[in-house]
Amino acid sequence: MVAVDGPSGTGKSTAARRLAGSLGAAYLDTGAMYRAVTLAVLRAGREPTDQEAVAEVARRCRVEMRTDPQHPGVTLDGVDVASEIRGAAVTEAVSAVSAVAEVREIMVAQQRRLITVATTPVGGIVVEGRDVGTVVSPEAGLKVYLTASSEARACRRSAQDAAAGRESDPRRVRADVTRRDSLDSNRGIAPLRMAEDAVLVDTTELDLEQVLRRLHDLVAQRGLLA
Ligand code: DC
Repeated sequence: MVAVDGPSGTGKSTAARRLAGSLGAAYLDTGAMYRAVTLAVLRAGREPTDQEAVAEVARRCRVEMRTDPQHPGVTLDGVDVASEIRGAAVTEAVSAVSAVAEVREIMVAQQRRLITVATTPVGGIVVEGRDVGTVVSPEAGLKVYLTASSEARACRRSAQDAAAGRESDPRRVRADVTRRDSLDSNRGIAPLRMAEDAVLVDTTELDLEQVLRRLHDLVAQRGLLA
């Protein structure tokens, strides 16, 4: 099991998914799960800052993940929401929703079940998020913490938005990256931080292929998921 944590815009999702694909491992994007609950909150017309209401929606809604790295997927109450969860409304509200203790309890329990299924009796999984190495799976065989300068991260987010046909104002993206970093790092429960035994990989000056090479080297060094 490989844990890949770090803030947004570090190339984490693409790198984790490609790594899983080339290792023949499963892939889990935990951020997509928090995004799906956030979408459920918005659809229910509840305030993302109303912790009670958010917890109630989280208990009621059904988020399911497909862990095939070639065809990853997320459904909310049985309906595919993969593209809707990337929209501006969800991105704006997700930090508030993911800071609610009960939401995290429900999501972490589900993530641990998916990890167990993917690794039993044999197999492997690459799991990406913010607290995978610190909370979800402190026993992971390899923990990687990806970082990059905030300029580089905002730039990548803008490029991703543009590629997906979403409206993208670079100033707004930059402000959003900074705002979410601060909310995710300063929340009381499971804040974004590097696990003590994680390997730091700064992707500011690296392209995707270089990041992947580094990840493959680390996997090989640990004799994991081969
Ligand atoms: O990786 P992402 O941008 O799709 O994540 C969306 C949000 O979900 C992010 O702002 C923080 C939250 N998140 C979290 O709290 N814990 C995780 N393991 C993954 C994401």
